[in-house]
Amino acid sequence: MATYDVANRSAIVSGAGAGIGRAVAELLAANGTAVLLVDRDQAAVEAVYQEIIARGGTAATFVADVTSPDWGTESVRLAEAMAPLGIAVNNAGISGPSAPLTEYTPEDWHRVISINLDSLYTGMRAQIPAMAAHGGGAVVNLASILGTVGQAGASAYVTAKHGVVGMTKSAALENARTGVRVNAVAPGYVHTPMIQNITTPESYAALVALHPMGRLATAEEIAQMIAFLASDAAGFVTGSTHLVDGGYSAR
Ligand code: NAI
Repeated sequence: MATYDVANRSAIVSGAGAGIGRAVAELLAANGTAVLLVDRDQAAVEAVYQEIIARGGTAATFVADVTSPDWGTESVRLAEAMAPLGIAVNNAGISGPSAPLTEYTPEDWHRVISINLDSLYTGMRAQIPAMAAHGGGAVVNLASILGTVGQAGASAYVTAKHGVVGMTKSAALENARTGVRVNAVAPGYVHTPMIQNITTPESYAALVALHPMGRLATAEEIAQMIAFLASDAAGFVTGSTHLVDGGYSAR
């Protein structure tokens, strides 16, 4: 078996226009996966597409909002037009406003849950049967360190990410004999547009201080764990959440 083999299959990567999604889409494409780039930001996803094509990779774009109930079925159809679906990285997410639970508006609450949690249900209910139909595959869901601990001011995000961990476990158990593995990755804080948009120099320094390694992760470091879990090398790994957090949770 080739180590970290991800070739000869297609992958769906949601939120592929920036940050972690972009990094994992580029990594998979560089290793022979045909990647469907899903993002609501048309210009961003087009730029990633052009970069992959310029490097000799195979890709297609799907401009879609993952809160749409049919994004899952439509993205499976588009990915399978390139190659059998073998990988799905459910990555699109938002941090949402910072506010105490008691001050969260119902609109903001539902938006954060819808993008970060409901979209994994609408994605996996299409991805898993397609993978199972041709012998298996790997789903990798983006949780967070905040899927394992709480944080004041981020209750909707924390709730969604704990939900991602639970949904991952149940979907993995349901598919333990179908050949479809389902795992989650729980990054510490990562230097991406999401973090750049919500931090000042002072609050960025406070985030750095949470990590014993003294820095945030790069998107590429998270992509490496996702690609491992998506690859044939992770053949006995299912139902688990994999921390990539610079020692955050070891204290
Ligand atoms: P980012 O904000 O840098 O990029 C997210 C991408 O997803 C953007 O291209 C955006 O257009 C797209 N997107 C957002 N909402 C969408 C929607 N409704 N439909 C379609 N596309 C949508 O985010 P980042 O930092 O790369 O995060 C990716 C995932 O990793 C998220 O699930 C996030 O919660 C998770 N994560 C991020 C951490 C961080 O510190 N950056 C830490 C732990 C987890």
